[in-house]
Amino acid sequence: MTHFGPTKLDAALIPNIAQQWGTPIYLHDQAYIENSCQQLLGMPNAFGLHVRYAMKANSDRTVLRVVTNQGLDLDCSSLDEAARAHSAGIPYSRMMLTTQEVPSGEERAELEAMITAGLKYNVCSMLQFKLIADFAKANRVDLSMRVHPGAAGGGESATRDTGSEYSCFGVHLNDVPKVKAMADELGLRFTQVHVHIGSGGDPEKWRQNIDRELGFVKTYFPDAVTVSFGGGLKVARMPGEKQADINSLGAYAKQRIEEFKAETGRELVMEIEPGTFVVANSGHIVTRIIDKKLTNELNFLIVDGGMELLTRPLLYGSEHPIAIVRQDGTLLSSEYDQTPAGGLKSFGIVGRCCESGDSVRLDNDGNIVPVLIAEPEIGDYVVIGGTGAYSESMSPENYNSHRKPGAVMKTKGGELVLIRKKQVRAQLTQNELDVQL
Ligand SMILES: Cc1ncc(COP(=O)(O)O)c(C=O)c1O
Repeated sequence: MTHFGPTKLDAALIPNIAQQWGTPIYLHDQAYIENSCQQLLGMPNAFGLHVRYAMKANSDRTVLRVVTNQGLDLDCSSLDEAARAHSAGIPYSRMMLTTQEVPSGEERAELEAMITAGLKYNVCSMLQFKLIADFAKANRVDLSMRVHPGAAGGGESATRDTGSEYSCFGVHLNDVPKVKAMADELGLRFTQVHVHIGSGGDPEKWRQNIDRELGFVKTYFPDAVTVSFGGGLKVARMPGEKQADINSLGAYAKQRIEEFKAETGRELVMEIEPGTFVVANSGHIVTRIIDKKLTNELNFLIVDGGMELLTRPLLYGSEHPIAIVRQDGTLLSSEYDQTPAGGLKSFGIVGRCCESGDSVRLDNDGNIVPVLIAEPEIGDYVVIGGTGAYSESMSPENYNSHRKPGAVMKTKGGELVLIRKKQVRAQLTQNELDVQL
């Protein structure tokens, strides 16, 4: 069996998937997702660990069910995400809402209903606090507060750093005493404190965040019983990248929480809310080569899915490992496994969108970076690895009116199951009104 990519997927499955459901298509791996959930749940901890999956990474209902069946709860970034998870059968009592939204009108009523059903509200601004305070008081609801630490965070790029003064997430540390004073006056308690410093980040920054956060839990949050260190656990998508060592991060958190107990007598439960770590390397995108072109600079392969399926390269210059699979299921080359060692050629791999940045690999200036692969034929497959997170959930869907593709889950029994159908054409226009002007 030939393996490639972080999930050790069988290349022979690729033509099988393509023949059954067409390309492009997203592919997930249940065993991988379950394994990453179990790794997270096994992280060292002092007085208990609560893991929430940041569902923005991949919000598909089957993925949510696989994750929650493993015992993870959810972090939702919008009311719509919470409602979406609920429609997948997940109770609100298993969700926390960490949002930039300031719900009013109907949405406000919806938020109150969700909180009444057990959703944890993670207050992210002074205004959010002021607006929920009366309801929380009347219903004796304990709150969580997302704190903006006012310190450079852990994102892999400036656009993923949510700790610095150039990001606006959470109640800024400067405002924490004011919000705390208002809460005290109303008899409201913050039983949880939360900081998420960024995505895909540096483990050292994660450790620094633990120290800083425990510091302000001590100063400002006497009622806190849970401390959330957010997400941002790095996965290695490309060879040479270093995956977060979650055992050592857990051991560090455990030690610091034990020291906190020694100083204060308080036993804090640790919470984390990774998205990337749970699903990123469970995913592949299967595309088919539909054309080849040659310019004075580049040998191009045009594949049938690009930025409308995976925007991370264009958005962040993110790298994803490329595997080339022949129509008969033979693996021709795999960047992740670095095979074969020689005889590779440079190709610019681009999608079908009318956008010169529609490529699987770009530098920070947006120039296409050629990928070293075995030379394929038209009809062969380009499989893009590490695409389980922030791909389906984050794509400029329907750009150039390309339909959102379907998704397949490889079950832990090895079966291939379609978990989402490809959009039909009517869905592209279903909300448009037939107005003649
Ligand atoms: C509040 C919050 N928590 C958790 C995450 C998950 O981060 P990651 O996918 O890097 O683990 C994010 C990502 O943006 C986030 O905004």
